[in-house]
Amino acid sequence: MNERIGILTGGGDCPGLNAVIRAVVKAAAKRGWETVGFLEGFEGLLDLRHRSLDYHEMDGLLLLGGTILGTTNKGRFAAKTGHGEVRKIPTETLDRAKRNFDQVGLRALVCVGGDGSLTIAQQLFERGVPLVGVPKTIDNDLEATVITFGFDSAVACATDALDRLRTTAESHNRVMVLEVMGRYTGWIAAHAGIAGGGDIILIPEIPFRYESICAKIAEREQQGKKFTLLVVAEGACERGRGFVGATDEKNREARLGGIGAVVAAEIEKRTGKETRVCVLGHLQRGGGPTTFDRLLCTRFGARAVQLVADGMFGYMVALRPPDTVAVKITDAIGRLRAVPLNGDIMQTARALGISFGD
Ligand code: F6P
Repeated sequence: MNERIGILTGGGDCPGLNAVIRAVVKAAAKRGWETVGFLEGFEGLLDLRHRSLDYHEMDGLLLLGGTILGTTNKGRFAAKTGHGEVRKIPTETLDRAKRNFDQVGLRALVCVGGDGSLTIAQQLFERGVPLVGVPKTIDNDLEATVITFGFDSAVACATDALDRLRTTAESHNRVMVLEVMGRYTGWIAAHAGIAGGGDIILIPEIPFRYESICAKIAEREQQGKKFTLLVVAEGACERGRGFVGATDEKNREARLGGIGAVVAAEIEKRTGKETRVCVLGHLQRGGGPTTFDRLLCTRFGARAVQLVADGMFGYMVALRPPDTVAVKITDAIGRLRAVPLNGDIMQTARALGISFGD
């Protein structure tokens, strides 16, 4: 029988997952290895739901959004229970996964995921499953890599939204609030906010004050600019207040969202200016990857197969421009990579007079 490797996609989907699958299948086939895909992330490993990924099936996957393998950010394997908390996966669950891995006769497993999925992967690795990681998330909040795939595509989507909001905001002399994703970091908001010419950007890293936001809007009015574009990350908080979102029965921050409407209502109340809100939501996760992400996913996928060949288990591919490198999964997980407040992105924004509401 040919050598076989496995692959699964875990956590929230994002543009580029299929491009990674394609690159892994192709690079593996080049070595004469078959690739087996587990369905719906780690759940497929637990239930032995998998299928062989045919080399010819990979045509066209480079540009296809979502994941042909399916994914879940819930399920029996969930290793993260809330912001910053890590749950130990029960030993029986890990052992069952290991037994199934052995039964399928795999040389290694490629786990494509963000912090949550890689946290699961690390526990599986410690339980004896030889695996490598590929860093995915639109949030870009993973340590040890300069960028995760999916982020560029999400930023492109948010920037396009800002371009569209600009013309309608300008026509009506309105304040337009765009709420973007990103969980507890402001990467998408900061990058899209700058690229889309936003005037005010609110990110979780900098608690905001309405006085400061309204002062920026007033300053623009004085300059004859009767409209304002504001980008708010879903995890942004007013100074002294918590996140806006729905909590689950255990009173955890289960789902962020809603800060845009809160900010818009307060701005309208304080300035009297007509204000509208647009929540971009899952549009940021849908559709195909940008050119940058297609290339990154292809590099990550090819490098992941190389790591398997080299026996670099417990490692994840990462981008350290100009190269892809191998880093320990433990160096990437468990810590949130926030937007550096003195970094180039922030300095650029400040130099242009963009307000962060502080
Ligand atoms: O982590 C990716 C992400 O899209 C976050 O930006 C967002 O908060 C969350 O997932 C949404 O998750 P769900 O798809 O479960 O609503």
